[in-house]
Formats: sequence, C-alpha cells, structure tokens
Amino acid sequence: MTIKVAPSILAADYLNLARDVSVVENAGAELLHIDVMDGSFVPAIAYGPNWVKALRKVSKMTLDVHLMAVDPERYIDEFAAAGADIIGVHYEATNHIHRALQQIKAHGIKAEVVINPGTAVSVIEPVLYMVDQVLVMTVNPGFGGQQFLPEMIEKIAILDKLKREKGYTFDIEIDGGANDQTTKMAYDAGATVAVAGSYVFDKVDPAAKIAKLKEVTAD
Ligand code: DX5
Ligand code: ZN
Repeated sequence: MTIKVAPSILAADYLNLARDVSVVENAGAELLHIDVMDGSFVPAIAYGPNWVKALRKVSKMTLDVHLMAVDPERYIDEFAAAGADIIGVHYEATNHIHRALQQIKAHGIKAEVVINPGTAVSVIEPVLYMVDQVLVMTVNPGFGGQQFLPEMIEKIAILDKLKREKGYTFDIEIDGGANDQTTKMAYDAGATVAVAGSYVFDKVDPAAKIAKLKEVTAD
C-alpha cells in the first residue's frame, strides 16, 4: 500500500493547466484536489463549478472538491452537476453538517467532512458513519505553501483508531504542507490520501515528486 496522492491545482500553472493535469495523472496521482474559496470562510477567492466541468472533460482522476465556503449547502448541487466525485464540507462552515453531507450523498457521490486545525475530532464523531472521507487540515485553510502542523498527526491517529474500533472504511486525507517527510508521518499515523500543492508543482518535476510520495509510503 502507498498513500493516494491528490495534487492541488491551486499551485499549478493556470495558463498551462491541461498540461499540468496530464503530467500528474500520468505520474499516477489518483485524485485531483480543487480548492473552492468564497472570500468569506477564507480570504481568497478560487474556482467555481465551471472549472470542475472543464477538468472533468480532460481527466479521469477522482475530482476532489474542497469547499471552503460559508453555508456550503448553497454550492453542493452545482459542483455535483459539474462532475465532482468527492465534495468536502467544513464542520465549521455550516450549522447543519449532517444535512450538508446528506445533500452530497443524494447525488450518489462521495461525501467528506473537513476539520480545521482548531477543531477536535470528537465533534465529527456523530457523522463518521456516513462519510467516505475525512479531511484533517494540516494548515489553516486559505493559502498554499504553508508549514505543516505536526500537532495534527494525533487527530489522524484518533480517526484511524475509530475506524478500527467501529469498522468504518472512510479515507483519511491531509491537506496543507505535505512533502515527503510530513506525508510519511501522516501515513504512518493512518492517513490514506495526501493533498499536495506547492510540493508537487513548485519545482521542475511534478512526476518525480509524486513518485517520491509513493516511495516513502510504500510498505
Ligand atoms: C489550503 C488548501 C490546500 C492547498 C495546499 O487552504 O486547502 O489544498 O492547495 O497547498 P500546499 O500543499 O502548498 O500546502
Ligand atoms: Zn484544499
């Protein structure tokens, strides 16, 4: 087993996006991570459903949509219709996390709950039975290129333990500051998917970076 890799297009070359997407797909990345930012839940603004629609046409990768938006219920239907395979909603962004997850599942796609660094795993325990993926933010959301917070490893271990105790099968994803070292730490604690933005796209060889993430997590 190795970790599944989800390159984040936030760090890609926007004017050569099709090229970058095909490079990471050919290098064996299983997911493509698309950050949706509403300028309110996080300061930045990024990627509406039209981007998902366009990416759907050029890639067979699992499209992993991370909604960093207040009241994400407003956007779920549009992103599902655009071709998202997974939609993630922040626990902190809605008063009705259970209903938001139900809304995602009603589209027959995968539902993900996301927690910020300041949020404990215990608050999402009541919805773990219904999710396909849990995203543990390993930086505060909103920007690429930040430092991985090692304190978040404990949350991955707690989730991994809950999976074993209760027979859950959800994936555990990390997002923020992933590189070969931090991804290995997270993998050893139970993470199964790593989002990687700047690590994959900043330097000259994205394919080599993906290979490295696979190599350090091969067991
Ligand atoms: C941060 C985003 C991330 C971002 C990660 O708010 O959710 O997906 O692209 O970027 P890196 O890997 O550079 O930390
Ligand atoms: Zn993200």
